[in-house]
Amino acid sequence: MTPASHTASPAALPADLAQRFAADLVAWQKQHGRSTLPWQNTRDPYRVWLSEIMLQQTQVSTVLDYYARFLQRFPDVRALASAQLDEVLGLWSGLGYYSRARNLHRCAQQVASEHGGQFPRTALALQTLPGIGRSTAAAVASFCFSERVAILDGNVKRVLTRVLAYSADLSQAAAERVLWDKAGELLPAAKDMPAYTQGVMDLGASICGTRQPQCLICPVQHLCAAHRQGESEKYPVKTRKLKRSAHALWLLWVLRADGAVWLERRPARGIWGGLYCLPVFDSEELLTGAVPAAARAKLQPKTPFVHVLTHKDLHLKPFVIQLTARQKLGNELTAAERGGTWFDPASWPALGLPAPVRKLLEAGA
Ligand code: ADE
Repeated sequence: MTPASHTASPAALPADLAQRFAADLVAWQKQHGRSTLPWQNTRDPYRVWLSEIMLQQTQVSTVLDYYARFLQRFPDVRALASAQLDEVLGLWSGLGYYSRARNLHRCAQQVASEHGGQFPRTALALQTLPGIGRSTAAAVASFCFSERVAILDGNVKRVLTRVLAYSADLSQAAAERVLWDKAGELLPAAKDMPAYTQGVMDLGASICGTRQPQCLICPVQHLCAAHRQGESEKYPVKTRKLKRSAHALWLLWVLRADGAVWLERRPARGIWGGLYCLPVFDSEELLTGAVPAAARAKLQPKTPFVHVLTHKDLHLKPFVIQLTARQKLGNELTAAERGGTWFDPASWPALGLPAPVRKLLEAGA
């Protein structure tokens, strides 16, 4: 064993690997990578930042429509900063992970109030803003300002651990830190940073997939240590996987004769934070208990369904009460401090509603 292997610091990369890796990736990106996505061919940090936040947990094909609508309504950071959070959540509705939208709004406000409406120009400074982590900051700084700084999202971890045959367990923070260092060593000169960053993303999203990577057409196959071992799929190594959990929620769906429904604002923290939602209960007993005794006979269970989140299956159990024109229910149904009100169907499209609740309402009782 060499002395270096006893230390936490990474062994140096093989001579000229960095240069060849970056050069081949940049050439491939220019010829075969994505180049027509609406957040490309711009160096406007507002547009790049918005796309990176939307793309964090969401596929490109889903983001496209949201991105266009968002930019049309909020063409620059000041427009977003001066919007009401409700409107931002409404435009985000269906993208999921709503903390992204709340942070987006807070971030825009900070850029407007503390940075004179201009995004900071370094990854280090960008990282101090709400919702911008190390990799997102690096993406914005490399795309917009050609900063030599590495990104490391899930796709990129896959590419780099394979090229380097880096077998340390990425569940361990120390192993991940080493990979960040190696990612930094692979970077090209500043002028090539935008194409390099896009290239490593594109390679991870296309050729270097989790299963059955298409090594035959990979532009860096000849440099790839995992390919040489014939073990590309072994990487990345991550022993501690996030365990999936299941959670049941009972939804009270009170429908007025004119079609309006009773919706309440969710608390800022926790599931569907800040969105409007049917009243949510942790058990059927709690739901029934919130309904005045005289109206309980009208409660109808609807077909339960599962809404799948990244780390959690939500088992949703709706119960409907259809009110006749003369019946009143609502204020007396839910304590005033729950902060609900009636919303008629015309108002639903602009509301921030959880996707499964929107689907339920639109399907009708
Ligand atoms: N995912 C994250 N950032 C991306 C980008 N710039 N282009 C395509 N997919 C991405």
